Amino acid sequence: MKASVTKGLGQGFVVEEVDLADPVGHEVRVKVQASGLCHSDLSVATFIGGEFPVVLGHEVAGVVVGVGPEVTQVRVGEHVVGSLIQYCGACVNCLGGRTHICLDPEHTLRAPGQAPRISWNGSPVAQGMGLGGFAQEALIHENQLAVVPDEMPWAPAALIGCGVLTGAGAVLNSAGVQQGETVVVIGAGGVGMNAVSGARIAGAEKVIVTDIEDGKLERAKAFGATHVVNSRTTDPVEAVRGITGNGADHVFDFVGARPVTAQGMQMLAKGGGLYLIGVSANDAGVDVNAIAALSASQKVQGVYMGSSNLKRDIPFYASMYLQGRMNLDDLVSREIGLADIEAGYESLKDGSTARVVITDFS
Ligand SMILES: NC(=O)c1ccc[n+]([C@@H]2O[C@H](COP(=O)([O-])OP(=O)(O)OC[C@H]3O[C@@H](n4cnc5c(N)ncnc54)[C@H](O)[C@@H]3O)[C@@H](O)[C@H]2O)c1
Ligand SMILES: [Zn+2]
Ligand SMILES: [Zn+2]
Repeated sequence: MKASVTKGLGQGFVVEEVDLADPVGHEVRVKVQASGLCHSDLSVATFIGGEFPVVLGHEVAGVVVGVGPEVTQVRVGEHVVGSLIQYCGACVNCLGGRTHICLDPEHTLRAPGQAPRISWNGSPVAQGMGLGGFAQEALIHENQLAVVPDEMPWAPAALIGCGVLTGAGAVLNSAGVQQGETVVVIGAGGVGMNAVSGARIAGAEKVIVTDIEDGKLERAKAFGATHVVNSRTTDPVEAVRGITGNGADHVFDFVGARPVTAQGMQMLAKGGGLYLIGVSANDAGVDVNAIAALSASQKVQGVYMGSSNLKRDIPFYASMYLQGRMNLDDLVSREIGLADIEAGYESLKDGSTARVVITDFS
């Protein structure tokens, strides 16, 4: 089968003929129908690094074409969406319902010593995040897959696995936003837009979005922002205080730069929470003054993958989309072929492009 292989740091994405093993144990063979281009795969390929050669791609949707002998949760022919959340299902955190902080995430991968899932010219190829969606087919542990209705279109389905779980989950799971509350979303990118959708589903009264580009703020309105603030031209703290009166109940930071996060802290109402999701520098973070925070009962929380339970949340977001209650169509700016990943990432630099999705694997 064809897969886009990243052979080393800075060596891009090259389509090669590779071999995929037969499914064993809890593995599921998926014929990939859509694969989203998320920034973190580009970061791995260009400066973070890891195991090479590797097949990246972690926003993946497709049809089940084969199952290992121990698979019980999906069947051949079903439509599935993958997620990079790896969990064992047996540790104390999993048993407590918090699979996103599983203590044994390697459980969904093949053990060292087992034959590799992917090989190229007889040598092993690593599989990005247990998924490897930049390929015609992928071999994925059933714990990393959720079933979605057949009528769910492929491109928006693929985006649910990372950007949607993270953005909407931060609002609905991590913060537990209640109806009537006020939400601020800092950073109107592909993930932040799903926080806006989540806030709408939660029944937030005011959903204020800040960004430094007017085009992104215009798009935010199409997702349900009630107020937008260009923080390059307007002081965002004053603007949020003006709109809310008492400050915001929840502030979600999708940017992750110290001055921006500090502004987020200043936007909080009494009892408010600041949620750290984006990171744009190694020193990202915020100073918390204990006296100010305790007297106003405020909290700061780090958020991984929207505290999501993928088996529950992926079908839920698919259902919200199919009911017309969640905008995923405006996230899919462009559909491309498997050989065009580099050009696809290049086009993401254009502010008008939200997400690019591979839908042609021929
Ligand atoms: N915590 C997690 O589990 C998790 C999971 C997925 C992604 N992420 C992170 O979420 C972040 C957002 O991802 P994305 O795909 O939406 O990125 P993106 O680049 O599409 O969006 C970022 C947005 O922030 C805006 N921005 C930049 N500087 C700003 C400023 N000073 N004030 C206001 N807005 C500003 C940009 O214009 C852009 O619209 C990334 O850092 C990503 O790595 C975290
Ligand atoms: Zn991602
Ligand atoms: Zn676990």
